[in-house]
Order: sequence, then structure tokens, then C-alpha cells
Amino acid sequence: MDAPRKLYVKSFGCQMNVYDSHRMADMLAREGYVETNEPAEADLVILNTCHIREKAAEKVYSELGRLRKSKEETGQQTLVAVAGCVAQAEGAEIMKRAPVVDLVVGPQSYHRLPEMLAKVRGGARAVDTDFPIEDKFDHLPAPSLAATRKRGPAAFVTVQEGCDKFCTFCVVPYTRGAEVSRPVAKIMAEAQRLAEQGVRELTLIGQNVNAFHGTGPDGRTWSLADLLHRLAEIPGIGRLRYTTSHPRDMGEDLIAAHRDLPALMPYLHLPVQSGSDRVLHAMNRKHGRDLFFDIIARMRAARPDIALSSDFIVGFPGETEAEFEETMDLIAKVGFASAYSFKYSPRPGTPAADHGAQVEESVKTERLHRLQASLEASKRAFDASCVGRTFDVLLEKPGRLPGQLIGRSPYLQSVVVNAPPAGIGEFISVTITEAGPNSLAGKVVSVPASASERPLAAMEA
Ligand code: SAH
Ligand code: SF4
Ligand code: F3S
Repeated sequence: MDAPRKLYVKSFGCQMNVYDSHRMADMLAREGYVETNEPAEADLVILNTCHIREKAAEKVYSELGRLRKSKEETGQQTLVAVAGCVAQAEGAEIMKRAPVVDLVVGPQSYHRLPEMLAKVRGGARAVDTDFPIEDKFDHLPAPSLAATRKRGPAAFVTVQEGCDKFCTFCVVPYTRGAEVSRPVAKIMAEAQRLAEQGVRELTLIGQNVNAFHGTGPDGRTWSLADLLHRLAEIPGIGRLRYTTSHPRDMGEDLIAAHRDLPALMPYLHLPVQSGSDRVLHAMNRKHGRDLFFDIIARMRAARPDIALSSDFIVGFPGETEAEFEETMDLIAKVGFASAYSFKYSPRPGTPAADHGAQVEESVKTERLHRLQASLEASKRAFDASCVGRTFDVLLEKPGRLPGQLIGRSPYLQSVVVNAPPAGIGEFISVTITEAGPNSLAGKVVSVPASASERPLAAMEA
């Protein structure tokens, strides 16, 4: 029998790419590929790329440079594929600039990889950046039990893709196409299978996940809240999350789901980008700061222990010092448990990139420092407030020391526990004793009743 072919997949960017990378690996497993962590020994390397900021996009070319060198040095006949959002945005340019690339495949056409690989093995180069009519998900096999176990008890499920919002800074509507929701029955089947394979936590993902409007088995259009209610009934699923949401799509039923569904974690990532109404308008976010405050007030009323997270952009074209201070003010008022923040990066083809009043790099850098200092203080305060609280922790992976396991709190914090009386894929109840910069430490109180039943499929480390 032939030795199995080896596949190395590297994911950049958001969770959608992580999910897509898994699905590509699942599909290629059927073609006889096994995954490796060593690009140098791979027969096929896939770079699943991100175009969101210039730095993210540049990583592809430096990675391709490394691959070219290593191929020259080892003489290995590695095939090189570029997938994801850079592939979609600049496929032709990649082919021109990087002869090491054998194929380019966009985020909506990667189910065609096997055919493309057959063509490439014949010596041709191949590009597919269509937005095909057929649904790629219909052509992708489910992960094997071994693949799911390796990925751990917390899994992503894509429920919605693409975006119709066209924020003036953002490439996503161009790289991922129009907003599409997957049918409820297909999501349910995927979630059920993952639960049977031992998955305990599902994060529903989409570029605009709370705009979800999938066709239900009853023919009705289901909201994200409807979907969450149904998913919470799946035996074994102890936790539900969703990301990324847009403030404009934060429906009343979704807020109520946080009150009514114990499985829905008390954590909301809701990007706001700026605290200035003028900047928000220029970004085409289609809401002001008041809507954001209003959502948070309603969310806290529904679920008092909710923690909040967000994304921020500093130095959007035309942003004044006073407008930046409004963002600082919003941060101080809300008190975020975590956040991501970025310097504005002009992206080709987006309206804001052509704006005359670009903010100077040094100003962006200085604003980012101030913003991050404030967000970091807010995160530490939140972590410190967790000391003494008792949480359910989902054990996910081995820790650094023997006997240690690392799990996650409801708030996505890493929690290190020594010698827990449970294994990976199980919940335990932990009292937090210490908050470090990157993780919490705690002592085990008990194995909660919900988790003491053996997992449907145990996940051994
Ligand atoms: N759909 C999500 C965001 C997806 S992109 C939303 O609507 O909020 C993830 C984050 O990257 C964004 O929230 C934004 O903060 C950041 N981002 C997007 N484009 C950017 C750009 N051109 N420059 C800097 N940051 C950007
Ligand atoms: Fe980009 Fe805006 Fe769509 Fe988010 S909502 S993906 S920031 S265009
Ligand atoms: Fe990047 Fe594409 Fe995600 S641009 S952030 S990988 S949708």
C-alpha cells in the first residue's frame, strides 16, 4: 500500500478560517491525506489566508517565501495551495508573484479541491475563486471521530457566511460574498454528530452570526435565538456560544435567550469599533453609541453576570483626538472583560482607503497604546473579580505540568486545575483562587451532576 500523503494546513485570521481548515482536512482525509505539523514533510501545504488588514495579507507572501526556500533545500515535491480571503481578493496576483503556488482556491469553492489537485498533479496550475451556486457544505464530509477528538470538546459550527453590511473599512463583503444562512436541519445534523463524538461546547460562527435567518424544518425562517433553543436540547451539549455579532442585529429574542437558556454562556463579543457617532457614521456601521449602550443595558438586565468583549479600530480616516476620546469614554463606561483592537489599515477596494484624511501612523500607534492600556486594565479588573467565584470549567487539554489540565470558564478564560477528578471533555466545578495575566488558577469543588454522566464518547488526552 502507498504511504499516506501528508497534509499541512496553516490557518490565519478568524474562526471561519479555522472551521474551513478543518473541513478541508476532513475532505482531504477521504483522498488519503493525513495531517502533519511539519510543513517540510508535507506533500501538500495549504495556507488558509486572511485579508482583513495589510499585515495579515503580507504574512502569506513571507510564508510562501519560506516554503519556496525549504522546497529548494529539501528537493521535496510539495504542492502549495493558497486558500481563504487573500486567495479570493488577489488570486491572480498570487499566481504572478509566487511561482511556488500550484493552486488558489477561494473560501466558497474549496469543496472543489480534490478536482483541482488532480489537475495540478498533471502539471497545470489552477485558480478557482468563483462564488458557485452549489453549496460547498453539501459536498463536504463530516469529520471522523478521530479528527473530532483531536480538535477537542469545544467545536465551531458555521451557521452563516458572508456580509451585506459594507462597513467602509472592511474587505469581508468582497472576500466572503453575500450573506447566506445555512438551513437549520443541516446545522442540527452537524451539531448532533459532534455531540455524539464527545463535543460539549458549540460556538456558532458567522461574519454576522446574529443576522442568521435559516430555513427551519417547518419551512419558517428561524432566527439565531430559535436555533440556539433547539441546539440546547441536544444531549451532551452543555455550552453554546456565538460569534461575531453586529449591534444592529441584536434582536430582543436573542437577548431573551441569554436569560432563558442556561447553556448559552454569559459572554457576548459585540464589536463596536468606535465610540464616536461621527466616526461610526463614516464607517457605515448604521448605528450610534447610544444603541450600543442600550443593548448592553438590556443584556445586563436579562443576564446580570454577562461579560462583554468587543473590537476597536483606532485612526479611522478623519478620526480626531476628541473622537478618539469618545471611544476611551465608551470603554470606561462599559468595562470590557476582553477586547481586540487594531490600527486602521487601508484595504484596496474599500471606500475608506481612498479617503483624503488618513491618520498618520505615529498618531495611530499612540492612540492604540492608550486604548490597549485601558482595555488591559479593564480585563485585569474583570479577571481579578473572578477570584472567589465558582465556575463550571470544561476541561480541554493537558497542562504543562503532569496531572494538570487546562479548561475554560464560561467567560473563555483559561483555567488551570491540578489533578481534576475528571478528564478532557468533562465539566468540573472550580473555585477560582488566582488570576494571572494569561490564565486563572482554581481548585476543584466538585464534578457537577450534568457532567458526572460519562461523556457519550470519552475524549482521552
Ligand atoms: N463582522 C464583524 C467583524 C469582522 S472583522 C463586525 O461586524 O464587527 C474583525 C475585526 O477586524 C473588525 O471588528 C474590526 O475591528 C477589524 N477590522 C476590519 N477591517 C479592518 C481594517 N481595515 N483595519 C483595521 N481593522 C479592521
Ligand atoms: Fe466587515 Fe462590517 Fe460586515 Fe463586519 S459587518 S464583516 S466589519 S462589513
Ligand atoms: Fe480574515 Fe477573511 Fe476572516 S479576511 S478575518 S479570514 S473572513
